[in-house]
Amino acid sequence: MTEKTLQIHYLEYGSLAELESEDRELCEAAVKALEGSYAPYSNFNVGAAVRLGNGLIIKGANQENAASPSGLCAERTAMFAANSTYPGVPMRSIAIVGSQNGSICPDITSPCGACRQVMAEYQHIAKADMSVLLCSSGRILKFSRVDDVLPFIFDNLDR
Ligand code: THU
Repeated sequence: MTEKTLQIHYLEYGSLAELESEDRELCEAAVKALEGSYAPYSNFNVGAAVRLGNGLIIKGANQENAASPSGLCAERTAMFAANSTYPGVPMRSIAIVGSQNGSICPDITSPCGACRQVMAEYQHIAKADMSVLLCSSGRILKFSRVDDVLPFIFDNLDR
């Protein structure tokens, strides 16, 4: 038996102003995406924005439903829209932000496991890292690849 330790690397920024311009623009697009949130059941609004390899930004917001499993998180809404509209174009990064009662959450909104798995698949087929930006009114965390938010990724695409 060997005991091993896994390290996760990420950057923490104190404000949007500290980010490089492309990342800042993506976080701002995630905030803009909040306008499309439909969350009458949880009253928790989530916005996401995906930066494609062709430079375009695709937005998505959480969509809820009275039959709750029929809703979808903001991240998957954005990624599925991106790959439906631009099939096969790599997703270079995704930004996520949460909001309640009209205010950006003071701490980060972290993607659920299902959304991380979907990120992992698009990163895998792109054969290039997808960075993940978790935004809040306070700090912003940047993970340079999906592996850092989903260690031991399940992928059986090459088997
Ligand atoms: N939600 C997202 O959109 N993304 C996440 O990563 C976590 C949760 C949504 C789903 C639901 O509409 C609301 O937040 C409350 O769970």
